[in-house]
Amino acid sequence: MKLQVSVQEQVDLQTLNTLHIPARARYFLELQEAETLENALAWAQERDLRVLFLGGGSNLVFEGDFPGLVVHMAIRDRHWEQIEGDEATLVLGAGENWHEAVLYAAKSGYRGIENLALIPGTAGAAPVQNIGAYGVELCDTLVSVTAFDRATGTWLRLAGDQCGFGYRDSLFKRNGGRYVITEIRLRLSRSKPLQLGYRDLEEYLASLPDRELDALAVAEAVMAIRRRKLPDPQQIPNAGSFFKNPVVSEELYERLKEQYPDIPAYPQVHGVKVAAAWLIDQCGWKGYRNQRVGVHNRQALVLVNHAEGSGRDVLDLAGRIRESVRRQFGVVLEMEPGVVGGAGLPPLA
Ligand code: EPU
Repeated sequence: MKLQVSVQEQVDLQTLNTLHIPARARYFLELQEAETLENALAWAQERDLRVLFLGGGSNLVFEGDFPGLVVHMAIRDRHWEQIEGDEATLVLGAGENWHEAVLYAAKSGYRGIENLALIPGTAGAAPVQNIGAYGVELCDTLVSVTAFDRATGTWLRLAGDQCGFGYRDSLFKRNGGRYVITEIRLRLSRSKPLQLGYRDLEEYLASLPDRELDALAVAEAVMAIRRRKLPDPQQIPNAGSFFKNPVVSEELYERLKEQYPDIPAYPQVHGVKVAAAWLIDQCGWKGYRNQRVGVHNRQALVLVNHAEGSGRDVLDLAGRIRESVRRQFGVVLEMEPGVVGGAGLPPLA
């Protein structure tokens, strides 16, 4: 059976990206079934168009319009598989809202992703940057990713250990555009220990009256912490952390620590991860704003779009921040969101 694809032209993407940047897609389609993916790709190939897959639009910056076909991933499905003893596998279509899936799992009594509450975006985008927060990363529970490999024209089900996960990194991110994720599977448990060790979470829970915690209580705590510190993209457009926390050499870390004894640091197998938010804050950027864009006043790692800022406005500000952090600390920050339709950050001076 030949499945039809329904393509629109010149579609406004402003409400489809959480930075609320005005941009247009030359062609646009909403993909609701994995079965129509190959037709959509063929449609674009016949016209020699590039294809951009869009999830929740919460981790990208539109620097310009997209001259090809934007495929909005809207595959909805949420069901359980392999329910055995305390464990079960949650299957999520790529277009499922991530936060709703977290609440659904927690309300069903399953643990594993509650620390990832309120992360904007979709289930299908979650493996791309291996979303993480409050001591938990997606790769801790992810058992497989179903994806179409555009390089070989085949469908794959990649096991978690085949996805090349790292800190905010994966095979999917390193091979941008090659794999189209249509479904993910998470192995959750009713009884595994809750992860309560991240400092902010520990402090918040200690401030509450003593009670037995479950996955939902942890999700609610994470939501309260995030609401206190991070701007809600519905109210203040943003793309979450704009830079990764950089890993620096032991030597550089020792030098920095001598000069700045308070620098927050997390030792890694190789080198030391330091808090980008702290570096940016020290350079005086927290709360900075110009007419259109700025730096959030409670989390220096989050750039915000105050009033119709363009992608170029956001990237110019990010470039200035990166330059000042490099001057003051000798550390080059790496951008976290992807850039569409342009060259990205201005070059370092
Ligand atoms: N800090 C500052 N100034 C600030 C904000 C933070 O000095 O304006 C300091 C804090 O005091 C703390 C350190 O920087 O010592 C780290 O701050 P925080 O715990 O808020 O976490 P983060 O490293 O800035 C990361 C993730 C967030 C995630 C939080 C909580 C990255 C790039 N970001 O932020 O993820 O929610 O940890 O786990 O790893 C995202 O990826 O979009 C995101 C929001």
